Amino acid sequence: MFDKSVYISRRKRLLEQMKDGVLLLLGNSEASCNYRDNQYQFRQDSTFLYFFGLDKPDLAAVIDAETGEEIIFGDDVDIDDIIWMGPQPLIADQAADVGVAKTAPFAKLADCLKEAQRKGRTVHFLPPYRNHNKILLHQLLGVGFDEMKERASVPFIKAVISLRHAKEPCEIAEIEKACTLGYAMHVTAMKMMRVGMREQEIVGIMEGVCRSGGVMTSFPTILSQHGETLHNHNHDAILTEGRLCVIDAGVEIDSHYCSDNTRTLPTGGKFTQKQKDVYNIVLAANDYAREACRPGITYREVHLGACTIIVQGLKNLGLLHGDVDEMVDAGVQGLFMPHGLGHNMGLDVHDMEDLGEDYVGYDPGQTRAKQLGLGSLRMARKLVAGHVITDEPGIYFIPALIEKWKKEGHNAQYINFSKLESYYDFGGIRLEDDLLIMPKGARILGPARIPITVEEIENIMYSD
Ligand code: GLY
Repeated sequence: MFDKSVYISRRKRLLEQMKDGVLLLLGNSEASCNYRDNQYQFRQDSTFLYFFGLDKPDLAAVIDAETGEEIIFGDDVDIDDIIWMGPQPLIADQAADVGVAKTAPFAKLADCLKEAQRKGRTVHFLPPYRNHNKILLHQLLGVGFDEMKERASVPFIKAVISLRHAKEPCEIAEIEKACTLGYAMHVTAMKMMRVGMREQEIVGIMEGVCRSGGVMTSFPTILSQHGETLHNHNHDAILTEGRLCVIDAGVEIDSHYCSDNTRTLPTGGKFTQKQKDVYNIVLAANDYAREACRPGITYREVHLGACTIIVQGLKNLGLLHGDVDEMVDAGVQGLFMPHGLGHNMGLDVHDMEDLGEDYVGYDPGQTRAKQLGLGSLRMARKLVAGHVITDEPGIYFIPALIEKWKKEGHNAQYINFSKLESYYDFGGIRLEDDLLIMPKGARILGPARIPITVEEIENIMYSD
C-alpha cells in the first residue's frame, strides 16, 4: 500500500471532476471455485485499490461528490473468523490508513444509497464485471442485469480513466518491480528449455518464479509450440526439435501492478534460417515501435508503422507483392498479425478494460476500425508521458485463416498463397516489451531488456 497521502490526493482529484451525486465504489468479494470454502485467490477491484488501497474482500465506499464526505463500508471480523483467519485489523483502522475517517457496517450501504435516491441524487457507479457485484448492484439500486453497462456513469468512467491513465512515479516503481520478476521468469524459461520436455514443466517453473516473488501471474501463461494460436493455454505438448515456442507471461506483484512480456524461442536453441528471417521482421517492428513512441504520436500511428515494417518484410520474403502502403491501407497485415500492437498496463494487465475498452484506448473523435488486426487495437490514443503500454508485434501463419482469405479471394492480388503453404507448420512469433512513455521518447521497463536478438537468445539457451 502507498502512503495515505497518495489515496487522499487521488480522491481529491476525482472530486475535481465529479461535482454532483454520490460515487459508489465496490470492492470485490471472495469467489468460490468448486465449493463455497474453496476459493480462488482473492483479487481486489483495481479501481477500489487505486482510490482506497485496501486489499480485503467485502468492502465498498461511497463518496459524496458535493460535500466530499467519504465512507468505507465493511464488517469487522467476529470470533469465528478469528479462529480461522487470525486477528484482523478493524475496518476503522484500515480506513484511517488510507485517510478515510468514517466507516459503517456493510449492511448500512443499502440505507445510504436509498437515502441518496430518495433525495433524487444520482448514484454514479462503474460497470460491474463480476456476477457478485452485479447482484449487489441490482439489490442496492434496482438496476436490471441487462442495463448495467448502459446505466454505468460515463462521467465517472471518464474521470477514473483520466486519473489512472498516466502512471505516477510510485506506480512506475511498482511496475518496475513486476517487470524485474517478469525478467527472471522469462530468463528462467530460456535457460531451462530442452527438446523432450513437456511445455507444462516450463510453465510450472516460470510460475513458481513468479509466485515466489509476487502474488500471481498477471494472466494465464501462454506457452506453446502452436504460437499461431494467439492465446494458447494448452501446455500438454512435448517440445520437439526445430519448432518455435511462444512464451507470453507476466507477473502481478503484491501491490497488484503487472508485467507482460513475450518471447519466442527455438526449441532446440538455434533458429533455422527460415525462422530467423521472420523473427527479424517482428524484431524490427518491435524496435520501430519503441523508437517511434513519444508524447503526441497516437498509438494507432505506431501500430500502422509497425504493420508497414511487417508488410515490407513479408514482401521481401516473397509472400506478398504490391505497393507496401497500398497493402497496409488494404489491411493485408491482418492475415499475419490479427491483433493490435499493444494495450495499456498498470493495476490490470489490460489496464482498466473493465471500464470499457474504447473509453480506455480511444480518444474522443477516434473510432475503432473494422479491419482484422487494426480492429483489435486496444490502445489507439495519443501518447502522453506516464503511459505504460505493451509493444507486441507478431507474425503468425494461421492455416485456417489463410485458407479462408484464399477461398474468399480477400486481398488476393497481394498475397502469394502458394508460397504461404510452406509456412503452414511454421507457428507464430510474438515479441513483447513493456514501455514507459517519457517526456521525450519511451523506455523499456524492467532491469534490462529480456534477451531478444537472435544472438542473445541463442547464447542464453542451452548455456548451463
Ligand atoms: N499478453 C497477454 C495479453 O495481452 O492478453
